[in-house]
Amino acid sequence: MQSAHIDDFFAFLRFPSISAQPAHSKDMRNCAEWLSTKLRNIGFSASLCDTLGHPIVLARLDAATPNSPTLLIYGHYDVQPVDPLELWESQPFEPTVKDGFVFARGATDNKGQILSHILGVQEWIEKRDALPVNIIFLIEGEEEVGSPNLAPFLREHRAELACDAIVVSDTGMVDIGCPTLTYGLRGIAAMEIHLSGPAMDLHSGIYGGAVANPVTELCRLVASLHDQQGRVAVEGFYNGVRPLQDWERSSWAGLPFNEEKIASVTKVPTLWGETGYSALERIWSRPTAEVNGIYGGYQGDGSKTVLPAQACAKLTFRLVPDQEPEKIQECVRKHFERICPPSVSMRIEMGHTGMPYLMEPDGTLGKLAIAALKKAFPSKEPALVREGGSVPIVADFKTILGAETLLLGLALPGCQIHSPNENFSLENLYNGIAINQAIIEEMKTMPKKS
Ligand code: BES
Ligand code: MN
Repeated sequence: MQSAHIDDFFAFLRFPSISAQPAHSKDMRNCAEWLSTKLRNIGFSASLCDTLGHPIVLARLDAATPNSPTLLIYGHYDVQPVDPLELWESQPFEPTVKDGFVFARGATDNKGQILSHILGVQEWIEKRDALPVNIIFLIEGEEEVGSPNLAPFLREHRAELACDAIVVSDTGMVDIGCPTLTYGLRGIAAMEIHLSGPAMDLHSGIYGGAVANPVTELCRLVASLHDQQGRVAVEGFYNGVRPLQDWERSSWAGLPFNEEKIASVTKVPTLWGETGYSALERIWSRPTAEVNGIYGGYQGDGSKTVLPAQACAKLTFRLVPDQEPEKIQECVRKHFERICPPSVSMRIEMGHTGMPYLMEPDGTLGKLAIAALKKAFPSKEPALVREGGSVPIVADFKTILGAETLLLGLALPGCQIHSPNENFSLENLYNGIAINQAIIEEMKTMPKKS
């Protein structure tokens, strides 16, 4: 284990680069500066590109031979908020090693994963010949808030970002040592529902019974999103949903990430979801509706007899091909407008969106990825999976840059991303380095461009 790599990892993790919280904007910039300095030290020309939000780190190092293929490696340096802080066993921005795992916010999502690619290129340069491919690193600071400024950046820098393949390690690995190619991601559509009732919080005894309670009405709206079969009960929601293919069903049924594993990682009393599909099928190939937060009324100690003036729910819908996020937002708006009672007024705020992604695992690039995974993990057959999570920019890479993305994730089922005690296996830092170098080797064989 190279202690310099660990030093880099820890330095990267110590920045509290929480993109959602304005109080951390200086930390965001410092973290981006650290990354570009790191890349410059390896030999890249690297710079920070300002956006309307947090800066993007863009770096490039060309191959020794002209007309070599170009590999773009994407990742993000921003992390999710840390709350609830009291459930962390060590401080989220003081990386702590326990049994071969590093605990810190962002350890897996995405600092450990993107750093393994940086270290992979660094080791290649230190230990081998000159690079056989041009390498671009594109590392953004707004992935966890829906990448609002990245698609415009891709459009503006299309020529500079031209590439033959994109590699992203920001997805799952089905088990430690089990190489995984993710060929599909769900898309997303976010929105907030605000209900207002009386002009101010009221005494619930004096007015309760005569004035509708916005929290009750909001709960009714939220509950109307699902039917008894766990399906989303919004008209038009399933329009265009591509059915799962037979080969997917049978190959997923044999994976080590199964129902027992999901139950044991999440510690739920029993699993839940749409009838007719296995848990993995529901997560990877079916669209869903989730409430991410709901608030209204008194949240403090003890009881307060109040009839709240307002209530709010934050919702996201996970989407699959060929659903379109904006159409889904409209279906949901119509659904709520149809059933919202006249006793409260409703305001709907649309949030970020992202298209789902699906690539051919047996196409040219899919084969290249599988060959690379076999090289990096000689004794294990790669798993082909889809993911329930979203990395919306991947669909934009296809439409704006015209390039396919290879999703080669290192996030283990127990990595706790977005939760307290997020962790990254140190073994996977080295697996990521091996994957990076195997991809570079495989890309060597790509036809030269004239
Ligand atoms: N790395 C995750 C996405 C992910 C995790 C995909 C595990 C597959 C497996 C990413 O950082 C993330 O959390 N994305 C957000 C995107 C959203 C804010 C637009 C997500 O999926 O919630
Ligand atoms: Mn991520």
